[in-house]
Amino acid sequence: MAIGDNALTVPKVVMTLSVPGPAEGLLRARCQLELLGEILPPDRYRAAIGGADALLPQLRDRIDEAALEAAGPNLKVVSNYAVGLDNIDIPACTARGIYVGHTPEVLTDATADLAVTLLLAAARRVVEADREMREGRYLGWLPDYLLGQEVTGATLGVIGFGRIGQAVARRAAQGFAMRILAYDPAGVTLRAGLLVEECSLERLLRESDFVSCHVPLTEATHHLIGKAELAIMRRSAILVNTSRGPIIDEGALVEALQSGEIAGAGLDVYENEPRMTPGLAACTSAVLLPHLGSATGKTRAAMGELAARNILAVLDGGPPIACANPEASSRR
Ligand code: DGY
Repeated sequence: MAIGDNALTVPKVVMTLSVPGPAEGLLRARCQLELLGEILPPDRYRAAIGGADALLPQLRDRIDEAALEAAGPNLKVVSNYAVGLDNIDIPACTARGIYVGHTPEVLTDATADLAVTLLLAAARRVVEADREMREGRYLGWLPDYLLGQEVTGATLGVIGFGRIGQAVARRAAQGFAMRILAYDPAGVTLRAGLLVEECSLERLLRESDFVSCHVPLTEATHHLIGKAELAIMRRSAILVNTSRGPIIDEGALVEALQSGEIAGAGLDVYENEPRMTPGLAACTSAVLLPHLGSATGKTRAAMGELAARNILAVLDGGPPIACANPEASSRR
């Protein structure tokens, strides 16, 4: 008998928020779906997930030892509605034989598109210029009005050369004839067809006109870009971050923007999201977005479908389709 044929064996899935696309339908067809409808504080989240077979959290839910303990022994899979996994204690899940699923691949293009959008917007001062128009300050064309940085042919340093970093490099090289430098703390894997020079972080920071961050948040990447790294960058350089906020020491970045140590920034993520470091909002050379990397209808639906299918794959006895800890199988 397949799981779901009998009411007594219908698995319980706790999903934090409704998401676009087929995820809910897929899960409701096989499971008892409990939709929380809001991001709960940790104590209320723990109370809500007791007895769950599967969790479908958002990146703002913390899945730590206490949450796993509260969920109890039925829990088989945590399927994150995100590619990033910094909200989940993966070793703790593995130790309990709980699979961790996530949503790579399906959001690569949307996120890379947004990184390039930030790069272009910061380089060409699009937000400042838009404000000039709306506030009636445009008085006619001038040779030196709102001059920005040339993007075509410039050097882009990509920090973190995984799927998204490579997709950004491809857009920059093929669309804007940019020279690409790459640094990856986990070791760059060069892909055929991409002209990329692998180098140290220091050389990348020294030689790049634009720097775009694409590393996962771990202990090793926390504050990867701090005061010392910002000091190495060119005064004309622009720093883009669509990965996780704590990769950059945001206080040091605000100082670097205020003092003109670097020319600008394009940020989609923040160190203490949703708050910003005091002073950042006043930096006109920064383009600031509210964590929109994967925010297209198509991508968010695909993320939901993959997150739901990760759960169904585990209920069928296998690992999640996109699994962050295949080694959990040996603990089950
Ligand atoms: C992720 O998936 O990790 C993003 O930050 C949200 O799409």
